[in-house]
Amino acid sequence: MIDEVREKTNIVEVIGQYVQLKKSGKNYLGLCPFHEEKTPSFSVAEDKQIFHCFGCGKGGNVYTFLQELEGISFPEAVKKVADMEQIPLSIEISSEPVNQTSGQQQLIALHERTRDLYHHLLMNTKVGEEALAYLHGRGLSDELISEFKLGFAPSQRDFLVQIAQQDKVTAELMERSGLFIRREDGSFSDRFYQRVMFPLNDFRGKTIGFSGRLLKTKDFPGKDQPKYLNSPETELFNKRQVLFNFDKARNEIRKQGEAILFEGFMDVLAAWQADIKIGIASMGTSLTEQQIAAIERITGQIVIAYDGDDPGQAATDRALMVLAEHSRLNLTTVTVPEKLDPDEYLRKYGVTELQNLLQHGRQTPFAFKMSYRKKGLNLENEADRLNYLEAVMQDLAKVQSPVEQDLYLGQLSNEFHLTRESLKQQLQMIRQTLRTTRRQQQRSIEPIPVQSVKKSLTKEEKAERMLLYRSMNEASIREQLVQTEFQFIHDQYQELLLYLDSYMMVHGNFVLADFLNYLKENEMKQLAIDISMISMSADSNEQEIYDLMRVISQSGIAEEIKQRQKEQLEARKSGNQQRELELTVQIIELTKRLKQA
Ligand code: UTP
Ligand code: MN
Repeated sequence: MIDEVREKTNIVEVIGQYVQLKKSGKNYLGLCPFHEEKTPSFSVAEDKQIFHCFGCGKGGNVYTFLQELEGISFPEAVKKVADMEQIPLSIEISSEPVNQTSGQQQLIALHERTRDLYHHLLMNTKVGEEALAYLHGRGLSDELISEFKLGFAPSQRDFLVQIAQQDKVTAELMERSGLFIRREDGSFSDRFYQRVMFPLNDFRGKTIGFSGRLLKTKDFPGKDQPKYLNSPETELFNKRQVLFNFDKARNEIRKQGEAILFEGFMDVLAAWQADIKIGIASMGTSLTEQQIAAIERITGQIVIAYDGDDPGQAATDRALMVLAEHSRLNLTTVTVPEKLDPDEYLRKYGVTELQNLLQHGRQTPFAFKMSYRKKGLNLENEADRLNYLEAVMQDLAKVQSPVEQDLYLGQLSNEFHLTRESLKQQLQMIRQTLRTTRRQQQRSIEPIPVQSVKKSLTKEEKAERMLLYRSMNEASIREQLVQTEFQFIHDQYQELLLYLDSYMMVHGNFVLADFLNYLKENEMKQLAIDISMISMSADSNEQEIYDLMRVISQSGIAEEIKQRQKEQLEARKSGNQQRELELTVQIIELTKRLKQA
C-alpha cells in the first residue's frame, strides 16, 4: 500500500504545494524549506521521485519530505499523501509511529513509565513530600505540576534499578536508556537521585529524557553536585534538538505568531502560571541551528527573555548574534530589572507585572546592544566614550530599517552632544566598508560549488560509490558483485549492496523512492541519495566496471599489507619468530596480488 500510494503520486506536485519550483533541465529547483538560503539549491528529480538539497544535504522521497517539513510520523505522511491524491486506504492509520524501530519504542515506553512513577512519588507519597513542598513554595500549583508531569527521584541509589529489574527490563535496554549508570562490576545504579524531575519531550510530546534539579535538604546537602543534571545523549535524546515545552507551546506559538525564549525551565513554568503559554527554553546551552530551524518553522517572531544578571545579558547578546545569522526571525529582547530571572520577578511582583514586562518591556536588538555595550565602561572617560560609540555605530550600520536608524541616530546625538550630521557621516563610512568586505567575502565563496562543503572523497571511495550507482541501475552488475563476493573497503557500502540485493529479491525492479522506504537507517538513506545523485553516463561498459573494481580491490590489498606489516613488527619485537615468518609469507603473497590486480 505504501508503494502503491507513492507510485500514484508525483513528488513534484506535492512539494510544489510547499515550495515554488522552477524547471531546470530534467529536474526542478527551488529554495530549500529546511534551511535558509537565497540561491536555490533544493532540487526535485521527477524521474527518480526524490528531492535533495545540495546546501543542507537533506533528501528523500515524498514521505520523507512531509515527515521532515511537518514533523509527522511515517504513517501520517502516507495518509497525508493518500488524502492529497484521493487514494482510498484499505486500513486505518493510527498516529502511532511504526517507523520508529521497536527499540526506540521500548526506550520511549521506559521513559514514560519512569516519568509516571516519579510523578506518582512526588504527588502521592511520603518520599516525595519535601519535594512537593519545595515546588509549592516556589509557587507551582498541583495543576501545573501534573500538566508537566514533574516528578521526584528519591535519594536511594537503586530505586529505579529495582523497578526495572522487577519489570524484567534487559540490561541492554537499561544501558541504552541513559537512566542508569553502569558500575565497573557491571551492576547498575540510578543516574538521577534526590532530584526534582523535569521530563523532556520531543516535538510530539513523547518523553525522551529528563533534567533533574537537585533538591538540597538537611539530610542531603548535595555538595559538589550540579544544580541541574540532564540525560546523557542517547539514540532518543539529543540536547541540541530539544526545546523544553516546545510540544505544549507549539500551537499557541503558531496562533499568537511569536515565541518567548527563556533561559531556565523554572522561567517557562513561571510564565505558564502567568498564563503565558508560548515560553520555551533550550537545554542550558546557546541555541543550536536545529532548534532555530524548529522555531522558524512555526513562527516569524521571537522574544528573548533571559535572566537579568550579567551571564544572562551576555547570553542574550550571543543569542541575538546566532539568531540574526541563522534565521530571519524578527527579534526583540526583554531585560528583567534588578538582575532577576523571570521566575524571581514573578514571585516578587506578581502575575500582572510579569505579563506587563513581557508584553511592554520589549526592546529592539539595537536598543539592547546600546545599553549592553555600556557595561564596564566609564562614559565620563573620553577613551571609553569613543570605544563605545565606535562599537555602537558598527551595530547601527547593520540595522536595516531607515526609520529605526534615524531614531537611534537622534538618541545618540542627544546623549553624546554630537551633531546628527557627523554621526550620519560616520555611519556612511562604516556601511561602505561593510559593503566592500561583504563583496570580497562573497567573491571568495562564490566559485566554490556547494557540494564541496562536504568532505571530499578519496579516489577509492568515489569508485565504491560509482560502482554502487551502477548496481542500482543495472541488475547485472549488482549480481556480478554479489556472486563474486566483491569486497568494498568501507563497511557502509558493503551493507548498502546487501540491502540493495535483498530489496531487489522482493521488488524485482529498482525504484529509488521505494528503496528509501526499505532502508531503515537515515544514514543509509542519505548514502543511497548521495549515490543516486552522482552524474554518470547512461550505461556502463565493461572497461569502466573493471577499472572501478580494480581501484577498490587494489586499495583493499594495500590496506591489508599495511596491517600485516604492523603485526610483523610486533611479532618481531616480542620474539615470536614463527608468527613473523608466517606474516612475511603472507605479505609476499599479497604484494604479488597487488601487482596483478
Ligand atoms: P538557572 O540556574 O538560571 O536555572 O539555569 P533556573 O531555571 O533559574 O533554576 P532555579 O530557579 O534555580 O531552579 C538555567 C538553565 O541552565 C541549565 C538548565 O537548563 C537551567 O534551566 N543548567 C543550569 C544546567 O543544565 N545545569 C546546571 O547546573 C545549571
Ligand atoms: Mn531561577
